[in-house]
Parts: sequence; C-alpha cells; structure tokens
Amino acid sequence: MAEAGHAPHRPSEGLAHLIQRWSDPDGFLPFDRYWELAQFDEEEGYYARLRSPIGTAGDFYTAPSVGSFFGWTIADHLFEGWVELGRPSPFCFAEIGGGEGQLAADVIERLAERRPESAEWEFRFVERSQRRRARAVERLRPIAERGGMQFTVPESLGEGGPFAGSVVANELLDALPARRLRRLDGGWEELGVLLDRGELVPGSRPLTRPVTGPPLPELPPGAVYEFSPEAEGFVREVADSLLVGRAVFLDYGALETHWTRTATQGTVVALRSHAALADPLAEPGRSDLSSWVNFTRVRAAAQSAGMVERLYLPQREALVAWGLPERVEELAAAGSQEADRVRVRLQSKQLLVRFENFQVLELGNERTAG
Ligand SMILES: C[S@@+](CC[C@H](N)C(=O)[O-])C[C@H]1O[C@@H](n2cnc3c(N)ncnc32)[C@H](O)[C@@H]1O
Repeated sequence: MAEAGHAPHRPSEGLAHLIQRWSDPDGFLPFDRYWELAQFDEEEGYYARLRSPIGTAGDFYTAPSVGSFFGWTIADHLFEGWVELGRPSPFCFAEIGGGEGQLAADVIERLAERRPESAEWEFRFVERSQRRRARAVERLRPIAERGGMQFTVPESLGEGGPFAGSVVANELLDALPARRLRRLDGGWEELGVLLDRGELVPGSRPLTRPVTGPPLPELPPGAVYEFSPEAEGFVREVADSLLVGRAVFLDYGALETHWTRTATQGTVVALRSHAALADPLAEPGRSDLSSWVNFTRVRAAAQSAGMVERLYLPQREALVAWGLPERVEELAAAGSQEADRVRVRLQSKQLLVRFENFQVLELGNERTAG
C-alpha cells in the first residue's frame, strides 16, 4: 500500500533530486547506484527512517529477532575462535552491519559470562546507518561495560589497523547494492532506473562498466544476472583487517548455478510490512531492498583476497553443529512456566524453517586455516 501522498513508484522530492543528481546525462542510473541512494542516503534512504525496519512493527524479521538462542550460539562459536588461537589478549569480537544491536546484545551478554577476568576483550560494532547505530550504541555500551569489555564503534572494521579477532555479519551481504545485468543475443545490458515525470521506471543500456572477478556465466537471452560488487569488496576488507581469526557471514543466497536456473528474472525484492511488493521499484526509499547473495562470486572474492574457506554450509546445519539445540534447551530450562518452554522450542523451529535459504560462509586466513 502506498503511503498517504505517495504513489507507489514516486520517490520523495529529496530522493528524486538525488537520483537526478547521480544519473548519467541520458538520465540512466544503474540499479546498484539507485539502491545505494534509496537505502543508505542518511536523509532520504530507507535505513535513515525513524521506524525500526526489523521486527513485528517493521518490514522484516532477522534471526536475532526470533530468540536469544541464535545470538548465544553465534557467541559460543566466536568464543571458540578465541580458544583456537590460544586465548590471545587483547582480542577483538566484531559485528558488521549490526543494525540496532539485537544480535550484538545477545552475543555480548553471552561472551561476558564466559570471559576470564584477565582477558582484555573489545567488542567492535560497525554499522553504517547513523540512526540505527545511535540506537544500538545506547543499548550496547552498558551491556559491554557491565561485562568488562571495551566497546568501540569505528566507521569501518579495519579503522584501528589489523587485529586478532572473531567477526560476524548477519544479513549484511543481502542488503548491499546489487548490479543487475540482462543477457542479450550477443552480449549484456545493464539494468537500472530512470525518472519519468517524477515516477521511477525501469531502464537499460548496453553494458559499458567493467565487471571484475569471475567471467559472467553462460545464460540464455533474456535472463537477469545479479551480483554485488560491494559484498565482494567487504570480503576483501575483512581479509585486510583480520590478522588472525575467523569471519562468519550468515545470509540468504546460493551458488549462482542454483539461482540463475530458478530465478531467471533475478532475485531483488522490496519488502514492506512483511510482504514482498509486486515490483522492486515500488515505494522507493520506503521499502527494504535485498537480493540473494551470489555466493559464487563472494567465495571467489575471498579466495582471491587470500582468505581460506573454513565452512560453506546451509545455516541450519551450521547452527546445529555449533550447539543451537543445547542453547534452546538452556533457555527453555530458565523459563518459569511450561508455556515459556514451549514458546522457546517453537521459536527455534521457526528459526530453522523460516531461514531455510540461508547459508553460512566462514573465512579464515592461512595462519588460522582450521
Ligand atoms: C538487513 S540489516 C541486518 C541487521 C542485523 N545484522 C540483523 O541481522 O538483524 C543490514 C544492516 O547492514 C547495515 N549496513 C549496510 N551497509 C553497511 C556497511 N557498508 N557497513 C556497515 N553496515 C552496513 C545496514 O545499515 C543495516 O543495518
């Protein structure tokens, strides 16, 4: 449903102005650049809004909003990273794209319970949206301080130089701007947007921007191919920042051989109030954009950046291997009434079923090859 005063494809005046400003002289704006403005502009973008995007009153759920057992399981796995390295001190636990801090809150609480008194631990929280970050910091700083951990909020993961650590990013990569290309008979075209009398409409033009990384796949004419240069860049940033340790990415997506067959017109979706809009260009700046992570390219980027792949598994399998069922029972046992215990067990089932298209990619470096 359109907001009062907004036709479904009509951006706010401010967003329309930005689109015009960053479009090429012919009016065309590639899809990833549109995504960047519509989602991340600090005034006009989706993530700058007052309303929280995640949870019942928002537009989508993420795993941390289902129950604390998710965060506890992740915390234990990050903790294992510290143990594996011989318990170095100082040590850095980090989250990238932490939103308003739900996962970090559960992770910090769990880590604090397990921290030996002499261990110098930092929790580094990296979140691009100033509004989301400000909310998270207010919530997280006291939890970290109570737990005896230093809490830092850098602009980027590697701001303080390379570190020994355990890093997590949940549903970060699927939220990063994706390029969309369409296969033609004898080549490719780039898909994007145009403004037509104030309405956002789809546009295309011959592919001229370079595509770095693996060659484009063989697809039939008409097929749409998506990938996120920024997601691939993130993996390179982690490779540069993480001296020793592990980095865990949890996200929905697949190898491109899987989704190019099943989603021939691409996977980009716009969400509003927990429903997918029929057109990803609807509600510009007021709906959440995401796409399946192209794990073929992300894994290739990791490899070319010198990272070692420790794990690439369906999320369900990784969580079970990391002890999720035990954390669920721990939380259920803490419930004072039978109804609480039933609720926790139901939530854990929901987590494993609802997030079925999620994968876990865990990277390390040769010094911690695992
Ligand atoms: C889909 S939300 C996921 C939030 C949280 N991780 C969760 O699972 O509930 C994606 C988050 O990544 C953040 N983000 C996007 N690009 C980023 C970047 N370059 N650096 C840090 N955070 C970023 C967004 O602002 C947003 O809060």
